[in-house]
Amino acid sequence: MSEQIQPVRGMNDVLPAEITAWQRLESTARQLLAEYGYQEIRVPMVERTELFQRAIGEYTDVVEKEMYTFVDQGGDSLTLRPEGTAGVMRALISNGLLRGQRHKLWCDGPMFRHERPQKGRYRQFHQIDVEAVGFAGPDVDVELIALTARLWRRLGIERVRLQINSLGTPEARRIYREKLVEYLRAHHDQLDADSRRRLEGNPLRVLDSKNPEMRALIEAAPVLTDHLDGESREHFAALCAALEALGIPFSVNPRLVRGLDYYSRTVFEWITDALGAQDAVCSGGRYDGLIAQLGGEPTPGIGFAMGIERLVALMTQAGAVPAPAAADVFVVVNGERAAAYGLQLVERLRDALPGRRFELNLGGGNFKAQFRRADRSGAALAVILGDDELARGVAALKPLRRDAGQSESPLPDLAAAIQSALATAVET
Ligand code: HAM
Repeated sequence: MSEQIQPVRGMNDVLPAEITAWQRLESTARQLLAEYGYQEIRVPMVERTELFQRAIGEYTDVVEKEMYTFVDQGGDSLTLRPEGTAGVMRALISNGLLRGQRHKLWCDGPMFRHERPQKGRYRQFHQIDVEAVGFAGPDVDVELIALTARLWRRLGIERVRLQINSLGTPEARRIYREKLVEYLRAHHDQLDADSRRRLEGNPLRVLDSKNPEMRALIEAAPVLTDHLDGESREHFAALCAALEALGIPFSVNPRLVRGLDYYSRTVFEWITDALGAQDAVCSGGRYDGLIAQLGGEPTPGIGFAMGIERLVALMTQAGAVPAPAAADVFVVVNGERAAAYGLQLVERLRDALPGRRFELNLGGGNFKAQFRRADRSGAALAVILGDDELARGVAALKPLRRDAGQSESPLPDLAAAIQSALATAVET
């Protein structure tokens, strides 16, 4: 045997046993997003590298260390998308969709970051990404958060908490940045190598450090919320008041700065204590300057993305994962003629009863083996077609999940007989 090919580290297969949780999450989110007036957009998985450098920021972990970047045959530097927002904004700009218009959009799919894989952190992971563009006031911030809170309720997810913060305007951040740099310079000897480098390029990122030896220094650093401009303060106060009015519990975390540079004003994160170190299940915020920074007509925006793998893990822990749908009918075929006719018969039944799940016995096998398969399929009803039945123009019906005898139906009436047998199977 030849050697097996290994999967790529940090990139997972989603197996049929896990897929019902994914499908439940995806269909519930789709349904809810439609209820709130969001439309789906699909954008490429690959973009020019420059897009992410400009949108996410040169000094972020994502751009500095985590991007899957390659030069294609035409000599262009391209990158597998590490997140969805930049691509969606690029699409709005490239397709001329801004010009004072508003958009409520969502997309989903795989994202790629070359991080160190661990539980809940992967190199290919999946997000549902939601973006509202053209809305400047705090009402949309509130509505987006209410949407996520409702999604958790619909999914039966309980162990999540909301944290919010405001990063203010770029001008307020510039003033704060000076204060922070002054503080960090005064403690230069306590900074690790990453933080020393960031001190010059993007000092706010120092606050994002995961190094435990930096914790005390970061705790004592000046806080951005104390340096907010008046309008951002008002925006934030309105957000907090509306969340309170809606009864959505939250806490203000002044250290919540987020790992991507495009944010301004509102940022938020839903975190859980149920998944270990990778605790953020849904994160986002306002990016009022991003579109202009990418060459589009200045337009405010806000959005968030949720990590599908992490939410699926929460749903599984909460026991909120549906069992895979079982077959309705298993068709047992006994004898050569019956096996050949069975293929036609099941296709006709599928025509007559769309939506019903039929499983035809494939690959032969004696009666006993076929009944074992029928039982394992979870079907409520077996339809039995032997050469003998075929010669008499009938098929037999046998309920599998309750104690009931076998009956017969003429072949032309079989679809109706199946419907009524299934209806009885559900009632009892
Ligand atoms: P983010 O915080 O980088 O934001 O990612 C959003 C969510 O994706 C996280 O809360 C987490 O659940 C999940 N996630 C991130 N990295 C990984 C990973 N390596 N493995 C598994 N799950 C992961 C964004 O991506 C922004 N684009 C969100 C946004 C949209 N902001 C405005 N609009």
